[in-house]
Order: sequence, then structure tokens, then C-alpha cells
Amino acid sequence: MATNLAKAARSSGISYQELIAGDAVPARNALALESPFQGGPTSVPVARYTTREFHDLEMKKLWPRVWQMACREEEIPRVGDYSVYEIGNFSIIVVRTAQGIRAHHNVCRHRGRRLCDFDGHAPSFICPFHGFSWNIDGTLRSVTSEWDFPHIDQKNFDLTPVRCETWGGWVFINMDMNAEPLAKFMGDLPAHFAPWRPEDRYVEAHVGKIMNCNWKLCQEAFMEAFHVITTHPQILTGTGDENSQYDAWGNFSRAITPNATPSPHIRSQPSEQELFEAVMMRHLDDPPAPNVPPGMTARAMMAAGARANLQSIIGTDREIADAEVSDSIYYTLFPNFHPWGGYNRIVYRFRPWQDRHDQSLMECYYLSPFKGERPPPAPLHLLGEDQPWTDAAELGLLAKVFTQDTFNLPNVQRGLKAAQFDEVVFARYQETKLRHFHSLLSRWLAD
Ligand code: FES
Ligand SMILES: [Fe+2]
Repeated sequence: MATNLAKAARSSGISYQELIAGDAVPARNALALESPFQGGPTSVPVARYTTREFHDLEMKKLWPRVWQMACREEEIPRVGDYSVYEIGNFSIIVVRTAQGIRAHHNVCRHRGRRLCDFDGHAPSFICPFHGFSWNIDGTLRSVTSEWDFPHIDQKNFDLTPVRCETWGGWVFINMDMNAEPLAKFMGDLPAHFAPWRPEDRYVEAHVGKIMNCNWKLCQEAFMEAFHVITTHPQILTGTGDENSQYDAWGNFSRAITPNATPSPHIRSQPSEQELFEAVMMRHLDDPPAPNVPPGMTARAMMAAGARANLQSIIGTDREIADAEVSDSIYYTLFPNFHPWGGYNRIVYRFRPWQDRHDQSLMECYYLSPFKGERPPPAPLHLLGEDQPWTDAAELGLLAKVFTQDTFNLPNVQRGLKAAQFDEVVFARYQETKLRHFHSLLSRWLAD
């Protein structure tokens, strides 16, 4: 077995690093890095996806202790604006105060009603049951029939606090007051993203869908390009699926799938014109493909167009590399946050739907650059379990790709429930991100 593993390290064909070294404008930042990660399990128990017991263990050991993206800062722009973030049975209010963004458990300290049912704006939080109230910073504001509560210590009757820190325009929460700071947890992730300035983007679209599968199953479908050949055969011509690079560092991992380069699965080498048209076909809003001039590559031509578009919006003096505007660069911060790198707009978040082990909520944000004043963020457009992604017109063509991705997932969940074996198996290299995720998950659940 060990010999086989050593032999089959990579797909044939150009490596990602070789490819970008030959670009018209080569990447010199984090895209030029390659991690040494080779660890993580090559198989995990089926029970991780199918059992209530495993879900309960995650609800006990993982979610109450780990940093999670709760919302965007722009979603709560004014003092008193708040957003409700739910994970399993936990519910957390994230609120902007004059002193900064704070988070509290969304539970009244009298008899426990949820304080806020929806996102909103309030000068204070007043419980809809008996009217106890708290200031937005979580301190106690008033006790109804105060004379009847001589036994409560009003100094110790604040809302239960939750840690709250920000990065890149996102707000993260952690229920563990002793957790390490977010910046330490993220390691080098912010350094990778620094040139792309996620804080200077706005939420152009935000679509969620309830999925009939475990949350890990759902996110794992977006952590590798290994499925492209079978799930998205229509994009093979312009996608270097099997030549993707996979990395992992600390609590985050990354995959980079090059575009406008042929898949190693395709036997005949497409011409540059064919490559260009194949990639342009994915953006039907764009004008018809012009001709690729002799001596130019489809990749360079596509990058030049995308770079010019982007520069007209963000007006940066920075030299933007071909890879940053061409490739699919998909990061994962453990456990469930997936911001895409470069200038791609996609950000995913996955979590259990309510307290279900066999249902999840998948969300896709389009985080777009803007010129001038920041446009207001799009509200969540939630699709039900039977609603297709194509009902969300704001996703454009990507909705069709999601339909292909998510078509498999309920059937994977059903297959796993029917499985007569104990473990699912991961590809050694192409499923690096899954292996990295499960090695971290095992550590969290063991503590
Ligand atoms: S439960 Fe909130 S005031 Fe009584
Ligand atoms: Fe996919």
C-alpha cells in the first residue's frame, strides 16, 4: 500500500505552480505557495455523517467552542442593529453598540424565552414574555415588578456573553470565553487574503438552501475538483480539474483549480480558441467570444479582460496576477467557512439545519467589489428543501452548477444510511481538504 501511495503522488500534466509561473502576469503572493501537508485520515467512519450520536458530540465539543462566521459587519451598520446567528439549539445575538460589535446568548434570564426572533434594530432588548429588558451591551436594564425579585443579584443578571471578533468585514463569534483569539486561530489566512481586501466588498447576493444531508457531506462537495469529471462534464474543456493544487496550514486549507487550461482527462488538446470559448460559455451575460490572436493564450486573454473590468471598479495600482482573476481558489477555515480567494465573489457557509444531523443549511454569498458608496447588503433569500437553486436568479449561471452539485447529496446521505461497510475512503491528494478537515475534527471531538 505504501509503495502505491508514494508512486501516485500527482496527476500527470502541468502542475499549478508550473502553470502560473508561465502566466503573462504571474502571481507572487500566497498563490505561489504550496503547503507540505500530507496528513489526515484516508478514511473516516460512515457514522460521522449518519448518526445522531455523532451530531450530538459535535454539538457538545465543537460548536460551543470554535470560532464561527456569524454575519457581515455591513449587515449591522448602525448602533442597535442586530443579527441572530443560530447553530443547533444555540442562538446568539450579534449587535452593534457604540463601543463596537458585541454578542450575547439570545435567551432571557427570567424564564428563558428567546429574546429576538429575527434580525432587526432596537435601542434595547425587551423580552416579549414579561418584559425584562437588557441594554444592547448585555447589561441588565429593567426588571418587571422589581419588588417581586429581591432575590436576584442585579449585578449578575446580564445576558450571557459570547466572544466576538472581526476580520475582513466578517463578524465571528465563539461561545467559549476562554477560546484563543480569532487572529491566532486563523494563522496566516488573513495574510493570504490581505491583497484581495474582503472588507472592501459588499454582499451582492445571499442565498441559502435547506439540504437533505449532513452538513459535512454538503461542504465536502465544495472542497475538491475531483467530482468535476462526472458531476460537471460540461466544464471539462476549460478546467484543469485534475491539476488542482491542494494545501493545508493550521486551521485552514485551500484548493486551487486552474481555468482556461484543459483537463488532463481530455485526450485531444483543445485549441486556444476552443479553450477561450469553453470558458466564456460559462458567462452567458458576456459578449460573444472574440478571436484569440495568434501567439496569445486563452488564459492570458481571459485574465486581461477580467483584470481590466476589475480595475475599472477598484482602481488599484496593484499588479493583479492572471491567477487572481482566472482561477477557482477555494479556502476553508475550520470548521465551516469557505471564502474564495483572488477576485472570485463566492463565499460559502455550511451548518446543521436547526438541530438535525441529516439536514443542513448551505449558504452562498456573492461578495463583490464596488465603486463609490457601499451598496446595501442583499438579505438572505432562503430556498426550501424542494426549491431548486435556479429559483435564485441572483446567482446567475452558477445556480445550474449548484443544481448539479446538490443533486447528488441527498442520494449520498441515503446511500450512507444503506451502507454495509463502516468507512468512506478519501483520495490521498485530491481530497486533501477533506482529510485535513477530519483530522482537525477528530482533535476537537477528542478533547
Ligand atoms: S421569560 Fe423573559 S421576561 Fe419572563
Ligand atoms: Fe461542483
